[in-house]
Amino acid sequence: MKVFILGAGKVGRALARALRKKGYAVTLRPARKGVPTTPIDARVIILAVRDRQLGPVAADLAASGVVRRNAVVVHNAGSLPADAIAALRGSCAGIAQMHPMISFASKTFFPELTRGHCHVKGDPEAEKRARALAKRLGMTPRTFARLDTVGYHAAAGLVANGAAALAAMGEELLVVSGVPRKDAPKMLGPLLRSVADNVEALGFPEALTGPVRRGDAGAIERQIALLRERLAPALPLFVASAAAQLPLARAIGDAPAASFDAVREVLANAARAKGAKPAKNKNAKRRPSARPRANGPRKKRQRR
Ligand SMILES: NC(=O)c1ccc[n+]([C@@H]2O[C@H](COP(=O)([O-])OP(=O)(O)OC[C@H]3O[C@@H](n4cnc5c(N)ncnc54)[C@H](OP(=O)(O)O)[C@@H]3O)[C@@H](O)[C@H]2O)c1
Repeated sequence: MKVFILGAGKVGRALARALRKKGYAVTLRPARKGVPTTPIDARVIILAVRDRQLGPVAADLAASGVVRRNAVVVHNAGSLPADAIAALRGSCAGIAQMHPMISFASKTFFPELTRGHCHVKGDPEAEKRARALAKRLGMTPRTFARLDTVGYHAAAGLVANGAAALAAMGEELLVVSGVPRKDAPKMLGPLLRSVADNVEALGFPEALTGPVRRGDAGAIERQIALLRERLAPALPLFVASAAAQLPLARAIGDAPAASFDAVREVLANAARAKGAKPAKNKNAKRRPSARPRANGPRKKRQRR
């Protein structure tokens, strides 16, 4: 089958390579060359351009008349429905969103698509061809009838980009702890992969590991003290991350409830000292902070 990809960025190149490996005849065209001036010989056209370019590119393609009536056109944006390219609806066999829930970070290093999920939604024929394409790539095509694409995309971004940002902060922490910087990504990659495997195989809350799960308030307090001394900018992220772990840890129940209350207290103290927000937990007891405040003595209790 012939596939035409407009947009030679990270996603366009990765899809072109993966599809060629599966035997598709792929034409990859950089979007900055503009839309083609001769008819596009493909049954599937993929618009792998930046989200804000989808509307103008779809309008250009529709106006140029180069899309064949029997072709379908899909776009890869996660946060936008098929209608982002509605200008093409009358000129082809259908339009759809085809969003691979995979992180593409490079134009030369491509992620594994196999076992990934791909959200496909749009006109029937476009959905059908996009689902077939995703399956050939080893992905699971999914169609959720009432998907809020903004929330869906925010979730994907929180996990993919949040994990990258957390790992970058983890690298800094490794470096201030004595690990050569060049070794840090090599150590963190497999760690992240083990988390990914745990998430996929076990789900939540079981995928959680570490001192919060074990209710080890002492270990967390020591880590916070070290961060305050050596990497203060990481402290709010560390506290927020630990606070987000607490409900999971309580649900697993690997330690007595009092241990989790102690963890919460440690986090609340750190948050008060730094102005970060601790997790809300109606069950936790509130006690005045035993720690001296970084900004001097507290005049008035502000948090309730
Ligand atoms: N990256 C991800 O992890 C990911 C995951 C799932 C879905 N998506 C979606 O896939 C689509 C493409 O994303 P992408 O990550 O491939 O984006 P990208 O790498 O930024 O490439 C997208 C387009 O941006 C153009 N571009 C690159 N650098 C540019 C510059 N300096 N000035 C002007 N234009 C420039 C490219 O033009 P040329 O074609 O001319 O090179 C390309 O068409 C988007 O809808 C995105 O939401 C992305």
